[in-house]
Amino acid sequence: MTFIFCLQELYLEILFTKNKPMKRIGVLTSGGDSPGMNAAIRAVLRTALYHKMEVYGIRHGYKGMIEGDIFKMHSSDVTNIIQRGGTILKTARSKEFMTDEGMAKAHEQLQKHNIEGLVLIGGDGTFRGANAFFSKYPIPAVGLPGTIDKDLVGTDFTIGFDTAVNTAVEAIDKIHDTAEAHDRIFIVEVMGRDAGYIALNSGIACGADDILIPEIRTDINRMIQHIRSDERRKKNVHVIVVAEGDDFGGAVELKSVFDQQLPDLESRICVLGHIQRGGAPSFADRVLASRLGYAAVLALIEKKYQMMVGIVNNEIKYTSFSEVVKQNASIPKDLQEMIMILAS
Ligand code: F6P
Repeated sequence: MTFIFCLQELYLEILFTKNKPMKRIGVLTSGGDSPGMNAAIRAVLRTALYHKMEVYGIRHGYKGMIEGDIFKMHSSDVTNIIQRGGTILKTARSKEFMTDEGMAKAHEQLQKHNIEGLVLIGGDGTFRGANAFFSKYPIPAVGLPGTIDKDLVGTDFTIGFDTAVNTAVEAIDKIHDTAEAHDRIFIVEVMGRDAGYIALNSGIACGADDILIPEIRTDINRMIQHIRSDERRKKNVHVIVVAEGDDFGGAVELKSVFDQQLPDLESRICVLGHIQRGGAPSFADRVLASRLGYAAVLALIEKKYQMMVGIVNNEIKYTSFSEVVKQNASIPKDLQEMIMILAS
């Protein structure tokens, strides 16, 4: 009889805990930072506070989760940060998190701090980590796409992409002026280890003569012929935008081929690098981050767990972590053709 009574108690306790509204959530930024991450943190915190939740910031992404670098956040922590680049929570790329020991330590820390749900802001590495971790430790979690690379499925834009492309466009326009003045070939290398979205979009926006991206095989002989035929019709300026992860190599490799095969033409390189990751987020990134941060907390309340929140056709869309890590966003075919025609 007592045994049945205990079982009944346990059942009620489980039922109660399951239906109890979430009270304590953690938030972190992970991987490469992106402009707008602060706006997302602000939206998560303020929405969660409105819904009577406590929010714990986890510093340095998964690394801080392992080390227990966790602190209680207050509304004032996010005052005046919507316009700032970087991330007030700091970020990191953690190899340890991908090990069994690392995950166990991270889980222990979450339990120690009574964290019931998580909001993760980051790119493909963040979602790979999330997918592995939550298959082992099924804690409620929601992800936000925060990366300048825009290489995630399940969203039209990622937080930081718009700002990064605008930064690249501003720089390439300036380079165009000096290239024109000297009749030079300029090779501008932009970020994108595995994805060509920044190169593609900044290249189109600046009227680049060639755009080289990891997703399309680079035909160096076609490029040399293109430059030679332009030269014959007295077009001596060439601005080439190359993604750092292009299959042929980056700006340095291209220049060495040009030096050998086009010795009579002057070429210069400019590697934009981490400039693209910093700076005040554009209005588009601030609005995107705010909408996604707000939606992430609602997703936790509505028990839409282990999902990335994105925006597709201006509507909130949820994609499971396992789907997000399965595929990369692809480059639309019509754009590839358009670039060839417009740059001719
Ligand atoms: O965040 C994505 C990204 O900016 C890539 O485009 C780039 O290749 C990489 O991060 C650089 O990372 P890190 O700052 O760790 O060298």
